[in-house]
Amino acid sequence: AASVVYEAENAAIVNGVVESEHAGYSGTGFVNSANAVGPAVEFTVQAEAAGSTDLAFRYANGGTAARPATLTVNGATHSTPRFAATGAWTTWSNETVSATLNAGANVIRITATTSGGLANIDALTV
Ligand code: GCU
Repeated sequence: AASVVYEAENAAIVNGVVESEHAGYSGTGFVNSANAVGPAVEFTVQAEAAGSTDLAFRYANGGTAARPATLTVNGATHSTPRFAATGAWTTWSNETVSATLNAGANVIRITATTSGGLANIDALTV
């Protein structure tokens, strides 16, 4: 199926705000989470059929350290994507993982695991 872009500014945001000060984002902005453990962005995405698919998180990390997150898929821990530094807040990159989705709605959540919080999150393409 064709991929669909889910904008982070339309996702459920825990301890973060939508901003637009760093160019290069898609949609109307990106999510800047608090610099803390625990902020999260939760996307509800649709899959036409059950099976494995790529989840591509578009992000920028202008800091010097990675901004790792726990990724859960429908409540189950999937992995800990790193969200490595991208060199500038205007330099956007993709962190892509493969996950098994259910047919229909799926809840995809990333939760910051370090005091830096999440990278700036632009979108999730499924
Ligand atoms: C800067 C930057 C923000 C970013 C923040 C951070 O303030 O402008 O977009 O989210 O650093 O370190 O998280």
